[in-house]
Amino acid sequence: MKVGVLGTGDISHAFMYAASIAGVITESVYHREMEKAVRFRDQYGILKAYDDYEQFLSDDGFDTVYVGLPNGLHYQYGLKALENGKNAIIEKPFCSNIREFDQLLEMANRKGRFVLEMDRVQSLPNFKSIKDHLNDIGNVSVASANYSQYSRKYDAYLNGTIGNVFTTEFSGGALMDLGVYPVNAFIALFGMPEKVTYKVTKLPTGVDISGTLLMEYKQFNATVIVSKNSIGNKHIMIQGEKGSILTETAPSVIEDLKLITRKEVTDISYPQPHDGFAYTLMDIKDIIENRNMQRYSDRLKQTKSVVTVLEYARKSAEIVFEADKNTY
Ligand SMILES: NC(=O)c1ccc[n+]([C@@H]2O[C@H](COP(=O)([O-])OP(=O)(O)OC[C@H]3O[C@@H](n4cnc5c(N)ncnc54)[C@H](OP(=O)(O)O)[C@@H]3O)[C@@H](O)[C@H]2O)c1
Repeated sequence: MKVGVLGTGDISHAFMYAASIAGVITESVYHREMEKAVRFRDQYGILKAYDDYEQFLSDDGFDTVYVGLPNGLHYQYGLKALENGKNAIIEKPFCSNIREFDQLLEMANRKGRFVLEMDRVQSLPNFKSIKDHLNDIGNVSVASANYSQYSRKYDAYLNGTIGNVFTTEFSGGALMDLGVYPVNAFIALFGMPEKVTYKVTKLPTGVDISGTLLMEYKQFNATVIVSKNSIGNKHIMIQGEKGSILTETAPSVIEDLKLITRKEVTDISYPQPHDGFAYTLMDIKDIIENRNMQRYSDRLKQTKSVVTVLEYARKSAEIVFEADKNTY
């Protein structure tokens, strides 16, 4: 697997770190401004820099495109990459709605290529620990997560500069940005909820700056609190009749995992020396290079479930993206 990177923002730098751990070679980089593409190329000793997407895609030095662009661009750039015979690894959240998911998958299948979400949660060793210890807490009675992180971009927003993450044009908002991690975790642990309801505080731009998502399961409820304009106690907590599992780190990070029973508190963290990104890329590399179709289909199923919950949640909060109005 050799990669061409789209975008030169923070997340593309994080990708390069993950690539160095996972042993993935980056051959080319694209940015719509040549100067930024060249700066990124030179920083990492990448072979080629492009500011023309068509030319970038016709470079046969790499087989896989990493889409590190704002949410609202994932679909169009990912689709074009697939159409041109590349695999596509797309940042979270994978796309804006279910229709986009179906079309990306349809194109990947038609071209015999892979399309995968760069989701952190499932690949983390400590997420595996949560799964391994779920039986220890007995029947789940309630689950909760809080991912509140005051955003620098919110200060800029207050000063009149509206970042992509705060627009419906780029499929932004707190749920799409932060909520995607705990939603991913709860779906991977408990499956699809029977019902979702999202109550929000909206910006005048139409996106949620904070909100509370209720995921209703047969026997219990899971809540997810997200906020980009306040700080909070980041955590995931799963409470059962015999004990609880708790991490008080960000739901994208999941460290310092504890099993709490009436008698004792036990550290159940697994070794997790790398940044979370690296584990995801290792998994994706395995799927693509070894054509591991079972793992591929499991990940796609998970991604579709997350995209579906996010869309239903948004609908309940009347958050409409430009992508929802497109007929393609
Ligand atoms: N940032 C993080 O820590 C982080 C963490 C996890 C996941 N993600 C995901 O990574 C993706 C990118 O997020 P981000 O916050 O890094 O976004 P961003 O900084 O706003 O943009 C990422 C890259 O896309 C470029 N870009 C912006 N608008 C564009 C346009 N209209 N056409 C083409 N290129 C454009 C940016 O160029 P300029 O720099 O010139 O604007 C930058 O190189 C999102 O899907 C997000 O959910 C980000």
